[in-house]
Amino acid sequence: ENMLSIFDSNMIQKQVNIPKEFIWPSIDLVNTTQEELKEPLIDLSIMKAGDEKAIASAAELVRKACLNHGFFQVINHGVEQDLINDAYCEVDSIFKQPISKKLSAKRVAGGISGYSGAHADRYSSKLPWKETFSFVYNHHQNSSNPQIVNYFKSVLGEEFQNTGLVYEKYCEAMNELALVIMELLAISLGIDRLHYRRFFQDGDSIMRCNYYPPCKSSGLTFGTGPHSDPTSLTILHQDQVGGLQVFANHKWLSVRPRSDALVINIGDTFMALSNGRYKSCLHRALVNKYRVRKSLVFFVCPREDKVVKPLESLLSKNEARKYPDFTWASLFEFTQKHYRADVATLQSFF
Ligand code: SIN
Ligand code: FE2
Repeated sequence: ENMLSIFDSNMIQKQVNIPKEFIWPSIDLVNTTQEELKEPLIDLSIMKAGDEKAIASAAELVRKACLNHGFFQVINHGVEQDLINDAYCEVDSIFKQPISKKLSAKRVAGGISGYSGAHADRYSSKLPWKETFSFVYNHHQNSSNPQIVNYFKSVLGEEFQNTGLVYEKYCEAMNELALVIMELLAISLGIDRLHYRRFFQDGDSIMRCNYYPPCKSSGLTFGTGPHSDPTSLTILHQDQVGGLQVFANHKWLSVRPRSDALVINIGDTFMALSNGRYKSCLHRALVNKYRVRKSLVFFVCPREDKVVKPLESLLSKNEARKYPDFTWASLFEFTQKHYRADVATLQSFF
């Protein structure tokens, strides 16, 4: 069977013309900019050191950034560079597999886990130029039951044991970091500093590896179109190719890759927890004409049945609620309504 696909990473795109499904409206494509967004860069070593004065000024920077656009970066975050490098190596092991193997782990419509070629999301019917592989990380699961290892072995085979081990470690590190950032966010909002730590400690987070093949017509499409994340907090590492952009101060600004930094985005669920004070970050990712681009994304989510609502003490007197109570499970289900897994149909184009 001839399983040709432009999203088979082993293949090189031969044509300049890309299928119309990938050509985004010109209104989205404008505003490509060289200007950069660097601030704020938060040195997280202060959290471990317990330097209260430094923590208070970091919290103030975070507060300003979240009120404005919902984006900041962290350094000295405690996640080892070797672990990040290993995680990228495993991205290569996954996506270099033949398309038939990747499709055997295909993410189904409405599902979270597995492989996906281009798919349309809730914001656009146009397709992004990327492949992804996603899986769930339950914070509360006991470590003697290695869930991610088992998942990789079950969908991709025994030889993916090491891939699973690396991501198990990566997710543990992300979870630990997420709880530190939750503490900083609580301080920045002036509430009990342990409140979000408690709220998220038993969450069901999602990890996603993004693989963006080069695109000869990179100016016509997106790796990831403009969107906000429905989840609570996103912890992202992008490789050195670059392409992530954030909408801030009325324009699209590039986030220059820093191998030692992790990008933090506020998502829709945290926006609701803060009663709309903190902005869910509007962002997108460009594809490169010549180089593969990769990113590692950890989406922090509460346990799926927990009710999301702002803390009483956060609301000022007579302040109206901006959003109704909801559970993460119900919001997720809503965002999946427009999900289309299109890999099979796209294979016919090339
Ligand atoms: C995303 O927002 O889903 C991905 C962004 C990136 O790859 O940098
Ligand atoms: Fe995103």
